[in-house]
Amino acid sequence: MQKVAIIGAGRVGETTAQILAEQEICREVVLFDIREDVPQGAALDIFQTAPFFAFDTRVIGSNDPAAMQDAEVVVITAGVPRKPGMSRSDVLDTNVKVIDTIVSDLVRYAPEAIVIVVSNPVDVLTYRVWQQTGWPRQRVLGQAGVLDASRMAAFIAMETGFSARDITTIVLGGHGDSMVPVPRFCTVNGVPVSHFIDAQRLDEIVQRTRGGGAEILALRKNSSAYDAPGASVAAMVDAISHHRNRLLPCVAILDGEYGEQGIAMGVPCLLSRDGMKRIVDLGLNDAETAMFRQSAASVRADIQRMKAP
Ligand code: LAC
Repeated sequence: MQKVAIIGAGRVGETTAQILAEQEICREVVLFDIREDVPQGAALDIFQTAPFFAFDTRVIGSNDPAAMQDAEVVVITAGVPRKPGMSRSDVLDTNVKVIDTIVSDLVRYAPEAIVIVVSNPVDVLTYRVWQQTGWPRQRVLGQAGVLDASRMAAFIAMETGFSARDITTIVLGGHGDSMVPVPRFCTVNGVPVSHFIDAQRLDEIVQRTRGGGAEILALRKNSSAYDAPGASVAAMVDAISHHRNRLLPCVAILDGEYGEQGIAMGVPCLLSRDGMKRIVDLGLNDAETAMFRQSAASVRADIQRMKAP
């Protein structure tokens, strides 16, 4: 892949850029931000790690939206983060305005791009980008499930002592308190986690996963999480860039899948060169479906709250 543009040179944007460069996931990373000099400073700082990590990816900072010209993937991290005690929905009104400005640049400069929305509330804003661009849903995704699943995997690794790399988890639904971790599909190298962790502990891990972002925000106090979020975005870009056909939980526009329509939420997606190739139906049981419906209701309430375009 030639070019990835990252809109918003905050902590998540910068971390994503660092990983994309370090792993040479693309030839060029453009960091865009409206704050004067900030993206240029971040880009320089990242490129100066090139001798250590031995990468040839160019990292460029800019205040000119034209810098995203012809990017194949555009990652949107811009917007205000939440403060301790706030929910992701509390930043909706401000971030919708930010997103709408970005969409007009996006349509103008990178009309063929695949978009990955990271700004919160991510499900609602992914839906907004899809609505405002009018692009096929294959090219409009959001990042949430990869992060939520990585948190759950980390908690299972901490609980069992097994290597995190052997742990596979899946988290669906909205990126909020009602997200839907699905322990039934979580394994340690193919062995169901229930073999190692009893039901009550597993339920505590599910709850901790739901509050995973808030836990870090409460600890860091002046910042949301950014290391694992950046790594999660980079994993999605890598799947697209290398045409990997990875099955990753992504925020996608639903058109009847999981019994939902007119909404964007986390579902297992096949990610590849063209973006979301298809949504995989896991055949949720009744209890899982009930949680998914509840999560959909809270995302839908925010979508309705958003002013009509
Ligand atoms: C989190 C915020 C960024 O989950 O949504 O950490």
